[in-house]
Amino acid sequence: MSQLVLVLDFGGQYKELIATTVRSLSVRSEIRQGDISADEVKRISPVGIILTGGPNSVNLQTSPKCDPELFNLNIPVLGICYGMQMICHMLGGEVVSADAGEYGCVLVTPSEYSGMLGVSGPFNALMSHRDSVSRLPDGFTATAYTDNCIAACQNTERRLYGVQFHPETKSTDGGREIIRRFLYDICGACGDYTLDDYIDIQVKQIRHIVGNNRALLALSGGVDSSVCAALLSKAIPGQLTCIFVDHGFMRQGEGDEIQGVFAKKNLNFIRVNAQDRFLAKIKGVTDPETKRRLIGEEFIRVFEEESAKQGDIPFLAQGTIYPDIVESGGGYGATIKSHHNVGGLPDNLSFTAIIEPLSGLFKDEVRRLGKKLGLPSKLVNRQPFPGPGLAIRIMGEVTAKKLDTIRNADAILREELDRRKNRPDQYFAVLTDTLTVGVKGDDRTYDPVVALRAVTTGDFMTCQYTPLPHRLLHRVSSRITSEISSVSRVVYDITSKPPGTVEWE
Ligand code: XMP
Repeated sequence: MSQLVLVLDFGGQYKELIATTVRSLSVRSEIRQGDISADEVKRISPVGIILTGGPNSVNLQTSPKCDPELFNLNIPVLGICYGMQMICHMLGGEVVSADAGEYGCVLVTPSEYSGMLGVSGPFNALMSHRDSVSRLPDGFTATAYTDNCIAACQNTERRLYGVQFHPETKSTDGGREIIRRFLYDICGACGDYTLDDYIDIQVKQIRHIVGNNRALLALSGGVDSSVCAALLSKAIPGQLTCIFVDHGFMRQGEGDEIQGVFAKKNLNFIRVNAQDRFLAKIKGVTDPETKRRLIGEEFIRVFEEESAKQGDIPFLAQGTIYPDIVESGGGYGATIKSHHNVGGLPDNLSFTAIIEPLSGLFKDEVRRLGKKLGLPSKLVNRQPFPGPGLAIRIMGEVTAKKLDTIRNADAILREELDRRKNRPDQYFAVLTDTLTVGVKGDDRTYDPVVALRAVTTGDFMTCQYTPLPHRLLHRVSSRITSEISSVSRVVYDITSKPPGTVEWE
């Protein structure tokens, strides 16, 4: 069996990202609850331990803590954010809450002795914290600072390391290198893990679960569900029915495009036109979480009806990936938003089980898997599009008229950006519920504002807003306000994640 690094979870949004980064550096990783006993860790015998971030304050009695004996096992430990604060707090240091936290990219300056960080000059790192370490425990050295906090520390004798920032995200310059150094230089990893056997393991598991029965796949035409379709058709060819539900919240021309691609394949493809019932279901609803939940529930009802029409198919497969799960809450984590296929699922399901073979993977891993399964790169590299579609890109109540407006605005943005060689990783338009005064011809207008969003990211758990050229923004804005009569104004969103999320709802 290959060497293992344990990622202990304290509710951090990025725990899977840590696990994925470790795996992508050819070291096997597993996530376990943060309160796992030191005896159990000894039994598992990992080469290293990483403690995740989390939404709590270590100073609270009730906040999750690791077994203190973990620090005496002589296994290297890296604490990230809350993880670093926990190490310092538990070993006699001090952690304080500041009035204002640090969120987003912050300049980190290494000390003369930068230790495990291995860097000589200042670098940008993603911070997302309010508490910070104000006094280190005995035996620890600070290896980096920001203007406001100790950004990294270590105790080489006890093989304990901490970083206040998030090296696992792409927003931290050289973050991957820092993790690589921890794995190879500190833990002595030999890099004996590859993703090659992932497909074989999943195929075996799917066959074991489904047996001679049939499975219904919720196919949206996006990367995740398409890769899931490829995996399932390899595992259970002939036992699979793929349902594409057109909920009416797709982008311009998208429903027909998806049908055009998948109906040709040997997937028992069925398109269900359910535009009216979805719009009716969320009529009058303005709260984002309620919208997401109602849409998630309606999806399931459509799948149940289709399953009954096909003679009761017992298994429902979904292309759920890890960020969908983590943002929907779970463990010690906070719910950011309920992804329609996770937090949006109703309690009463008529399916025997839900199969989610991609649920431990991140977008870039899913893309690599798709390529391995032979999917065309155009499909594998598609931008993510949320399951609830344009319904969560319209602030407030969704109406047919607003859907038309946002569809047209989004199409203009995409048309202009699709012409360019260097495109952001995701871009779209949002219809806000703010009305502003404008003037068109000689008339006063009082219409909604459209917001444009374009982000640069690889993992979709964090992102930087993309600084689009002004000339392009100007062109998109003029086209939207002149070609769409019901838009008064266009603004550009320059918020990164954190603190903003990619989608507005
Ligand atoms: P957020 O808005 O959470 O988005 O920062 C991160 C990525 O996930 C996509 N997203 C979703 N995908 N169902 C999905 O399949 C959803 O409910 C959903 N909500 C957000 C979003 O477009 C971005 O790429």
